[in-house]
Amino acid sequence: QEARAAEMERTFIAIKPDGVQRGLIAEIISRFERKGFKLVAIKIVVPSKGFAQKHYYDLKERPFFNGLCNFLSSGPAVAMVWEGEGVIKYGRKLIGATDPQKSEPGTIRGDLAVVVGRNIIHGSDGPETAKDEINLWLKPEELTSYSNNAEKWIY
Ligand code: PPS
Repeated sequence: QEARAAEMERTFIAIKPDGVQRGLIAEIISRFERKGFKLVAIKIVVPSKGFAQKHYYDLKERPFFNGLCNFLSSGPAVAMVWEGEGVIKYGRKLIGATDPQKSEPGTIRGDLAVVVGRNIIHGSDGPETAKDEINLWLKPEELTSYSNNAEKWIY
């Protein structure tokens, strides 16, 4: 059965300021793209501190909350929405474990990062979070639809 893009799973992925500063944008996009996922939205933004606090709201009681928000708002970040079957869970797999010391080689953090406070990328951890984060970071008109396109050879 043909899946319609409107019903396709989507996740929110951000390349954090350290990933941008280190010149890893293309490397990271490339890994998602080669896997077969579709990039349906992308923009570069400098999140304000307040915006970062909204993004990480669930972590507001954590001791690292303030530092994490300062970090996210410290420079340009890349906000993206990726689409595809299983993209939320598999996107997390491509990213690797939160702590780069524990992420496997072959994952983005395993290959490219060393410490948790500078782990270069964020990905939504579930369907609800994905929806919330997409709505927080992007306007509906910033999302592209691939529905009815001739791209039938993916997967
Ligand atoms: S936790 O502890 O289970 O809530 O951690 P997790 O859900 O994996 O991580 C949530 C986000 O917090 C970041 N994080 C940290 N930042 C700085 N210092 C420390 N010690 C730390 N621990 C976790 C982690 O990178 C997650 O951010 P995102 O942007 O979602 O990766």
